[in-house]
Amino acid sequence: MNNLIDGRAIAADIHQETLVRVSALKHRGVQPGLAFIRVGEDPASQVYVGMKEKKALELGILSHTTVLPEKTTQAELLALIARLNADPLCHGILVQAPLPRHMDSAVIYSAVLPGKDVDGFHPVNVGRLMLGDAGGFLPCTPAGVHELLVRSRVPLQGAEVVVLGRGNIVGKPMASILIQKSPRANCTVTLCHSATRDIAAHCRRADILIAAMGMPEFLRADMVRDGAVVIDVGVNRISDSSRPTGTRLVGDVAFAEVQPKCLWITPNPGGVGPMTIAMLLANTVTAAERQT
Ligand code: GUN
Repeated sequence: MNNLIDGRAIAADIHQETLVRVSALKHRGVQPGLAFIRVGEDPASQVYVGMKEKKALELGILSHTTVLPEKTTQAELLALIARLNADPLCHGILVQAPLPRHMDSAVIYSAVLPGKDVDGFHPVNVGRLMLGDAGGFLPCTPAGVHELLVRSRVPLQGAEVVVLGRGNIVGKPMASILIQKSPRANCTVTLCHSATRDIAAHCRRADILIAAMGMPEFLRADMVRDGAVVIDVGVNRISDSSRPTGTRLVGDVAFAEVQPKCLWITPNPGGVGPMTIAMLLANTVTAAERQT
């Protein structure tokens, strides 16, 4: 049954477009620069930043990673961000979440210059998204999900969309993107969360379901109507004694039982993940274009 949305192939198309833009900048003597900051030794963050660095290098984006110890103070991190804000060779800054508990992530993300905030986490960029102002930066994961839908020609005009999860990184910006008055959006969005009374009833009405609440295999077949489009943003590590590591990764969707009901569904891995990286590097090139 081939109803899979191939995130790797769509991300590769976007990387190709980004490469063309990087070449155009090079002709003007500009190399896009992206600074990664990682605090502590969160294993998942190590892997994610490693993948982002590798792809940046392939596209000719100059990247530099600073790894700070877990005990770094908020003031020290703010001082590093201030140096990068002032560095003309650095066009984009990404502070990998999660941050250590003793840091206030709202303070940290507000310290990145909005024009260098390729993550789209700064309140100015959050506001621009709400206002439909294209001069900001969209957060990479929801922007990637939106591109997956648009490039897979999923009809969005008037579509009933249910977003599961109200986090600042995915759920809230995802809903904001899809409610915009635009031929690329114009959806009717329901945002479900932990206090929603009957999540299954909302889900069963949806043309498009976007699962981003971080609960392993939460979305089951009986919650999905026939012919729905399902996007799985979840990455959850669960225990599995049959694996050498004792764990495995699963999404927020019970893929095996949900797939047969879907018009389209993202595999996981190979769906949303590659799109996040593609949108980050596209944002970085946009930042370089705007600053030069
Ligand atoms: N952690 C999980 N997703 C993200 C992301 O999109 N950006 C950053 N900076 N950290 C993350």
